[in-house]
Amino acid sequence: MSEAPELAAAQERIAAAPDEHALRQLEREYAGVVGARLAAIPSLPASERRAAGQSANLLKQAIEAAALRRHEALQAAALMAERLLGGIFDPTLPAPKPRRGSLHPITRVTRELEDLFTSMGWHVLDGPEVELERYNFDALNIPRDHPARDTMDTFRCDAEGKLVMRTHTSPVQVRAMERLKPPFRAIVPGKVFRNETKDASHEHTFHQVEGLAIDRDLSVGHLIGAMKTLLRGIFGRDIEIRLRPGYFPFVEPGFELDARCPFCQSGCSVCKQSTWIELLPCGMVHPNVLRAGGIDPEAWTGFAFGLGLSRLVMLRYGIDDVRLLLSGDLRFLEQFA
Ligand code: DAH
Repeated sequence: MSEAPELAAAQERIAAAPDEHALRQLEREYAGVVGARLAAIPSLPASERRAAGQSANLLKQAIEAAALRRHEALQAAALMAERLLGGIFDPTLPAPKPRRGSLHPITRVTRELEDLFTSMGWHVLDGPEVELERYNFDALNIPRDHPARDTMDTFRCDAEGKLVMRTHTSPVQVRAMERLKPPFRAIVPGKVFRNETKDASHEHTFHQVEGLAIDRDLSVGHLIGAMKTLLRGIFGRDIEIRLRPGYFPFVEPGFELDARCPFCQSGCSVCKQSTWIELLPCGMVHPNVLRAGGIDPEAWTGFAFGLGLSRLVMLRYGIDDVRLLLSGDLRFLEQFA
């Protein structure tokens, strides 16, 4: 019997085995055939032994491979049948869509503001979250016994109090002055930390965007112009503003900037029926701060603002609990997909 038809016949039978039991029987049958061939070899003429051995091995390997293939096919079919019968898996249904992430609302608004300001030639700067007390307070004209330190519920990082978790992004003002030659303009988006009891409007960690412009002869008019541009960028249209006096040690004069409520005409819950919302503190950079940053206050002037980014994001998206922002809660985050 020539080899090829014999092999083909064996492979065909094995591939058609209807179940595991039949498959095992075929395997035994062919193991017998191969065994008999091998056993007969010693009684063959020496010239034929080699060829007989090779052909027996070929048959053995072909049968093993065919049996393995059939075994796998039977198993897959059994699994499929089980799932179909059990109703667990319907292979005709479209595959589930992969879950797509989305940008955090803070990231979105940060990027929008970065685009807005870089398009006007401002830098975007970064600063350390663990900050030297010197930058967080002293250089900002807040000396050691100044009451403003108490209002900032500071997390301290070492026993001497030289290192703090920055309580605002303002320390980067002074770092920027040290690094960049005036004139320059920069915003600093980032996290800040305060040892606050958490509730719907307080978090120990939140976001601010600091702004600083240093140039010759800057005035409150320039500050107002920049703030109007900022609001137009945020709300997509011109928004009326007003300035009230506000005290911050690092600016003089200092202001609280209110914006006409973008959500109503005549009073709503966001503006507490007043039609104004308190949006950001700002002012003209105090000469002591310029000096701390190595800039001559006789030659240069500056304005600065501190935008409460967390609050702005809450306003923008109608979020009523600041704690949601850093909760990592997917039910919250998925709404921004
Ligand atoms: N750093 C202040 C705070 O977190 C906010 C602030 C006020 C920043 C006035 C400024 C500014 O740049 O001019 O309370």
